[in-house]
Formats: sequence, C-alpha cells, structure tokens
Amino acid sequence: MNKPPILSLGGIPQAVALSERVHWIGALDPNLRTFDIILKTANGTSYNAYLVRGSAGVAIIDTVKENFAADFFARLETVARYDEISVIVLNHLEPDHTGALPELMRRAPQARLYISQKAQTMVKALLKQNDLAYTPVLTGDSVTLGDRTLQFLHTPYLHWPDTQCTYLPEENTLFSGDVFGCHFCDNRLFNDEVGDFRFSFEYYYAHIMRPFKDYVNRALDLIEPLLPLTNIAPAHGPLLRDRPHRYVRRYRELSQSALHSDIHDGEKTLLIFYISSYGNTRRMAEAIYEGAMSIDQVRVSLYDLEGSELAPFVDLIEGADGIVFGTPTINGDAVKPVWDLLSSLVVINLKSKVGGVFGSYGWTGEAVKMVEDRLRGLKLRVPVPGLRIKLIPTDEEIELCRGFGRELAQELNGLRQSKVIDMADLA
Ligand code: FEO
Repeated sequence: MNKPPILSLGGIPQAVALSERVHWIGALDPNLRTFDIILKTANGTSYNAYLVRGSAGVAIIDTVKENFAADFFARLETVARYDEISVIVLNHLEPDHTGALPELMRRAPQARLYISQKAQTMVKALLKQNDLAYTPVLTGDSVTLGDRTLQFLHTPYLHWPDTQCTYLPEENTLFSGDVFGCHFCDNRLFNDEVGDFRFSFEYYYAHIMRPFKDYVNRALDLIEPLLPLTNIAPAHGPLLRDRPHRYVRRYRELSQSALHSDIHDGEKTLLIFYISSYGNTRRMAEAIYEGAMSIDQVRVSLYDLEGSELAPFVDLIEGADGIVFGTPTINGDAVKPVWDLLSSLVVINLKSKVGGVFGSYGWTGEAVKMVEDRLRGLKLRVPVPGLRIKLIPTDEEIELCRGFGRELAQELNGLRQSKVIDMADLA
C-alpha cells in the first residue's frame, strides 16, 4: 500500500510528487459546500496545480483560487525557485484556476504564458491586465523544457470555450483541466487512496460536461490515442494514477446516448408533455398526439407530468427531435411541473430541437406565450405558433389540435409547407 502523501511539514505546505519531475502544488478547500452557485460539494473541493521540471526550465500548469494562493506558493517554493520558471500554462481561465496567476507572474516575470487560441478573447478581461503577453496554442503545438515537453490539445467547451489539455509525453501524463475532475476534497490525493468519489465524478460530469457531449467526444478522440496513460492530473479532485483509462472510458460512455433507443434510422421523435387540472389540456394533448401520429416517420410519445419524476424525461428529451409542452394557465402563469422540467434542461444541449406549446385557459391564458419564450431562450426552434383554447375544447378546436400535432410532426420530417403570408390579409 502506498504511503499517504505529506501535505504539510511543521505547518508549511509541501508539494506532492507524482514522479521525480512532476509535483502537485495545489490547495485543498474542504469547507466549500457550493461551487459556482449550482454545484453541491459535500466534502469540499481541491484546486489542483502542477509543476513540471525539465532540464532547461520549470513549468507551472494552472494555479489556484485567489484566497488559496498562500498554500500554492508555499508548495511551489518547496520544489522550485521563481527564477527557474520559464513556462506557465493555463488549461482554463476560470478564477478557481487563475486566482494566483497575477502574483505568480509578478514573482516570475520571465515566464512565458501559454493559453488556448480561444482563451485570447477572455484573458485580458478576466485578468484585468492589458499589457499581458502570452502565446496562443492549438493541437500540435508544444513547448520544450529541455528533456521534458508539453504538448497542447485543443479541447474547447469543456466547459468554457477556452479549455485545453496539456500532455507530457516523457511521463505519459495528461493535465486535463476540469475534464476528468470532480469536487471531492481528500488529503490522500490519489484515486487509489482517497474515499469513494464515484458519485462526485458522475455528478460533476452530469452538471459540468453533459451539456457539451459533442465536444467531450471530440476531446476523447484526441485523448484516447494517448492511452495507456500513467497519470491523469485533473484540476479538481483525486489525481488519477490507478488505471486512469477507466475514467476516459467512463467519459465516453457518459457521452453516448443515455438510453438505448429503438427508434429506427430516419425516424424522428416527438415527445408531448402535459399537465391538466380539469382535463381540458389533457384533451388537447391527446388530439395533438393523434394528429402527430398520423404523419409517417415520426415516433410520438405522450406523457402526463403528474406521473413521473423529471430525471428520466431529461434523458428522453436529450435524445428527442421535438418537444411539446401543454400547460394550463393558473394565476397568470404556467404551472410548476412545467417550469421544473424546463429548468432541469440546463444540463443538456437543446439547440435546434423543435419546440411547441399548447394549453387550455380560463381567463387570461399567458402560460403558452411564457413557455414559448422560454423555449426560444433555450435555443429551441418554435416553428408553429402556440395553441391556446379557452376552457373546454369544442369539436372544431379538437380538430385544430390535431392539425397542430400534424404540423409539428411534418416540421420534424421535413414535409411541412411554410405558410405564405398574403400581405392583403394583413391590411
Ligand atoms: Fe474548475 Fe471551470 O473551473
């Protein structure tokens, strides 16, 4: 069994070796309970920064949150002098990794800063330094430290546009930024020593990486050829030295469709969610369902929001082509289950899915327009105007609902005719 690392000696924070030439110089934040407003952190987090020593220079990879800078500098000083630092790499500019950068650059003014191409648009605004000198890099670019080399991988949107990974081939080590990270604070540091962090790893992926699955898959296309890695050194949570390929594989699994699908090739999927207080919005939903089902090559599903937890619906919506919401208007608003489902969708990519809204109302009927606006805000297309019906739908109105369903389904399979507006009708 490995000895737990010594993080502090006589009250002085110590660097921790991943190898003779690579050290962890980060900081632990065990008391944090919420990260970035939305993420729960049941036992805190860590801000992982690293130092790489080559025969011709020292590199620092990422820094820490500003109020943990003292630990970072103390650890750095146990393994290098500031005048030895020739390279600073920022894999990601978010303040939890750049908080100590201005002071580091003041202490090591000779060091050259390396950031991703996409980081250029935000680096000066974030660091409030107009005269900042840096080198933008892409996949294929590298910087030498003599007998050690840092190779850059362009892995944007994981989870900001600027993110990149840095690979150290001589040590077979990947500095992955937020990728493969998690909010889990444990002073044993290494994945084969710390407590059980599986939940934190999955939770972090679900909230941070899931909206960017396409980009995760592209990043994995760059990372998988590097396997088997000796270490994955992420920016948060345990350092992955024991079978790090398992975490790469898990990212690939998580970035595939969440559920097995029986939808045929070429078939589109339309999901209709509704909630109804007196059955009127339900009648509308059933008629929309009938109308949509009459269109070929569209698989339609109907769900009452009263009948399920929301999480499975989020998985279904992620894989669907179209989503329709039915809500009554109560006290001038859509009802809570609809808003709850909509607010759960922030973890998935909805761009260019088709959306639609309908509902029965008694007096004012604002809910349909409100939900339509929200769908547009989530980047869905809303090609068919929302359908509102006052109280109990008549036979003619039920037929309108069937038509609404047909139009949405035709929009999905590409058969919908755009309505031509005759200007004379507007006069
Ligand atoms: Fe850990 Fe996206 O910052």
